Amino acid sequence: MAVFKLFALLLFIFPVLSAALTEVKAQRDKDEPYVGVNIGTDVSNLLPPTKLVAFLQQQKVTHIRLYDADPDILKALSKTKIRVIVSVPNNQILGIGSSNTTAANWISRNVVAFYPDTLITTVAVGDEVLTTVPSLAVMLMPAIESLYSALVASNLHNQIKISTPHASNIILDSFPPSQAYFNETFSPVIVQLLRFLSRTSSPLMMNMYPYYVFMQNKGVVPLDNSLFKPLTPSKEMVDPNTLLHYTNVLDAMIDSAYSSMKNLNVSDVVVLVTETGWPSKGDSKEPYATVDNADTYNSNLIKHIFDRSGTPFHPEYTSSVYIYELFNEDLRSSPVSEANWGLFYANSTPVYLLHVSGSGEFLANDTTNQTYCVAMDGVDGKTLQTALDWACGPGRANCSEIQPGENCYSPNNVKNHASYAFDSYYEKEGRSAGSCDFKGVAMITTTDPSHGVCVFPGSKIISNRTNTVVNSTSATSGVDASRFIGTRPLEDGLRIFWGLILGFICILFAL
Ligand SMILES: *[C@@H]1O[C@H](CO)[C@@H](O)[C@H](O)[C@H]1NC(C)=O
Ligand SMILES: *[C@@H]1O[C@H](CO)[C@@H](O)[C@H](O)[C@H]1NC(C)=O
Ligand SMILES: *[C@@H]1O[C@H](CO)[C@@H](O)[C@H](O)[C@H]1NC(C)=O
Ligand SMILES: *[C@@H]1O[C@H](CO)[C@@H](O)[C@H](O)[C@H]1NC(C)=O
Ligand SMILES: *[C@@H]1O[C@H](CO)[C@@H](O)[C@H](O)[C@H]1NC(C)=O
Ligand SMILES: *[C@@H]1O[C@H](CO)[C@@H](O)[C@H](O)[C@H]1NC(C)=O
Ligand SMILES: *[C@@H]1O[C@H](CO)[C@@H](O)[C@H](O)[C@H]1NC(C)=O
Ligand SMILES: *[C@@H]1O[C@H](CO)[C@@H](O)[C@H](O)[C@H]1NC(C)=O
Repeated sequence: MAVFKLFALLLFIFPVLSAALTEVKAQRDKDEPYVGVNIGTDVSNLLPPTKLVAFLQQQKVTHIRLYDADPDILKALSKTKIRVIVSVPNNQILGIGSSNTTAANWISRNVVAFYPDTLITTVAVGDEVLTTVPSLAVMLMPAIESLYSALVASNLHNQIKISTPHASNIILDSFPPSQAYFNETFSPVIVQLLRFLSRTSSPLMMNMYPYYVFMQNKGVVPLDNSLFKPLTPSKEMVDPNTLLHYTNVLDAMIDSAYSSMKNLNVSDVVVLVTETGWPSKGDSKEPYATVDNADTYNSNLIKHIFDRSGTPFHPEYTSSVYIYELFNEDLRSSPVSEANWGLFYANSTPVYLLHVSGSGEFLANDTTNQTYCVAMDGVDGKTLQTALDWACGPGRANCSEIQPGENCYSPNNVKNHASYAFDSYYEKEGRSAGSCDFKGVAMITTTDPSHGVCVFPGSKIISNRTNTVVNSTSATSGVDASRFIGTRPLEDGLRIFWGLILGFICILFAL
């Protein structure tokens, strides 16, 4: 009986789904997915505009989003190939929404004055208006329509789009994605907005943070799933209605937006992720805001977008994303994570080095080829020993150089040996994101840890010593690296999703 119902439900759902799949138009070449960056300005020493633009060019940044329409930055961007989203700050929406003249002046001052020398692609009207300034909700569509009329008057409406970024919590019940829907409180605005976006071929802008989904659902949403780490099929989330498999939280969030639009009969509007990211530092209540998690999230995000694999619901369309954010905004107050979302410090030194080789030039220069993985300072010997044992055992790092008599045996201490083993593992894994973690006792460094005759894996130094003959009997005794304890992977943290999946299946069966 139950099986029959499940089957009947699937029969009902599949035709609906496949119809939807054909409607979001296949991505055209000029519509290549890209990764851009948000430039927040709560920074005590923001680079002056010309230096900022030079920095963006050096880092091969192609798309940026500004939270306003700073004339000096827009001027400095002139004649570059960097594409820009300019924003109407929330506090200007009332004025623009109540007067066509104000809207026309805004477009003339902030868009027409710079275009096409500065490649403005989009006007973002406010930020998270529905959830942060509900009193402005009624003015949102009038503001959008007036700005659009002004663009039409300047004949720029085909080149420049208009939309408005939303917080992801306007979507309710977002897992499984097929059951997601827009909070009905916002329906009057959302219905009009979607009609506008559809009519003008503009994207639905969403700020999406797997970090917060993970933090608010600890024990249910696995960390690996939030960080785009590879999962075994049994650990993927399965949407029981569509049977689509989700390997990461961001794709599920994007598909929840598509489902929500479909509930309102809209299937020709694409999703643009205007903010996503992961903080690299937090207070005691934010233990997952670490450099390694931030590095893993953003590195894997970049690879995921450039892979162009779309989402399970829309494999033919890959949403572009803007990383939140370029600089740490040191002027932001608590929690600590608020000031630590940046890829760079304000002086343009990296907070961490992304692992993006093979993903084009974006944010990748030759420093990414010179990173090493070493043991952190101040970690107790026992913890390091466990990690060392794992690296040389189940991790299959090449630990021959830290055997007695070999080049990296000395200094004979667990920190030195662990550093060598971590680096060997990291190199073997192609310096991939997440491969320098070892439960948080390892860190990435740009300083070559080679010393004396000891040359670390990945180093370009050529050893000045020929290997001594290995006395293989002595090499098996006394060295920590030869103790292989257990096969438990270090980066577990995976809380299997079965409880949740079973829950959904039960709901299905109860229908
Ligand atoms: C503003 O322009 C729109 C579209 O051109 C028009 O429908 C509306 O009546 C105008 N509003 C005012 C206050 O003039
Ligand atoms: C929908 O949004 C309103 C307004 O923000 C909020 O009060 C309400 O709790 C939301 N509904 C749900 C189910 O979260
Ligand atoms: C969507 O379309 C269906 C079928 O045409 C209709 O019954 C439903 O009322 C529509 N919903 C909305 C929100 O327009
Ligand atoms: C790579 O990036 C670093 C840090 O931003 C910078 O100092 C260095 O000059 C860059 N190298 C090249 C070749 O662009
Ligand atoms: C960095 O690594 C990439 C891929 O591994 C390679 O194509 C590139 O030439 C390297 N750059 C330098 C300066 O070694
Ligand atoms: C392990 O490293 C040593 C020293 O660099 C090298 O000679 C040896 O070939 C490596 N072994 C394997 C299996 O890669
Ligand atoms: C190898 O070079 C290092 C410095 O790079 C030096 O400290 C060491 O003594 C040299 N060893 C030999 C055997 O020459
Ligand atoms: C290895 O060391 C042992 C004990 O010091 C010694 O008896 C043996 O001859 C050595 N073997 C080689 C190949 O050097």
